[in-house]
Amino acid sequence: MSTEKTYSPIGVFDSGYGGLTIMKEIVKELPQYDYLYLGDNARAPYGTRSFETVYQYTLECVNHLFAKGCHLVILACNTASAKALRNIQQKDLPNIDPSRRVLGVIRPTTEVVGNFSKTKHVGVLGTTGTVTSNSYPIEIEKFFPEVKVFQEACPMWVPLIENNEFNNEGSNYFVEQHIKNLLHQSDKIDTVILGCTHYPLLLNKIKQYLPQHITILSQGEIVSKGLSDYLKRHPEMDAKCSKGGSLKFFTTEMPHNFDEQASRFFGKEIKSEHLQL
Ligand code: DGL
Repeated sequence: MSTEKTYSPIGVFDSGYGGLTIMKEIVKELPQYDYLYLGDNARAPYGTRSFETVYQYTLECVNHLFAKGCHLVILACNTASAKALRNIQQKDLPNIDPSRRVLGVIRPTTEVVGNFSKTKHVGVLGTTGTVTSNSYPIEIEKFFPEVKVFQEACPMWVPLIENNEFNNEGSNYFVEQHIKNLLHQSDKIDTVILGCTHYPLLLNKIKQYLPQHITILSQGEIVSKGLSDYLKRHPEMDAKCSKGGSLKFFTTEMPHNFDEQASRFFGKEIKSEHLQL
């Protein structure tokens, strides 16, 4: 049997760089698997795009990951999880290949968030797409009906990160503004979900403006623990995922534009390949 045939990496997808914050934690938790990252940087950000566009772009990228051998794909993007995951799971997968799986990042976060909050007032910072989809309040209600959810869309944050402006003074205004707007909705918020996988890159600035007693939940660890449980509960999927410990990165942009920034976010040198859509 050729190794090409048995190579079945876990696919990790995001609109751009943000999914690297998830992948970093997944690889730490589960280093034995092969991984293939795809960032659709050429078409990022997704956060302000319509439902239909996010769905089409995400489905196209998932199909590319399937074609490269992935049996399991993680949408490491809240916007894609909010706007495309359900359709892909229910409408597309049965036709493409019912044995493949696509998982998102919203569900694992909403399953645990109520355990972190004493006041049961939780804030969500996300893209416009994620916030207007109401996915967080709807999902949290299923697991923690007593939790009140307050949301704030931060449409400027992803462009600041994708354009490498997030460490500059200019970004302070946008970070402060959105945090103020969130906290204005309730003074009891004691837990804030960074409901966009890009936002951990702004963590230092977010911490400057969020009072210290507020717990900040970023999704990397939550999603990696969730994936580890999932693979234990689904030995048939676990058996399909190859375990060569390799990492591969694809971007729909030009690799020389992607690699430097991506390496910084991932904490390891990345040499990506271009994926032609
Ligand atoms: N990382 C994506 C998310 O979690 C960013 C969305 C975007 O491209 O705007 O929502």
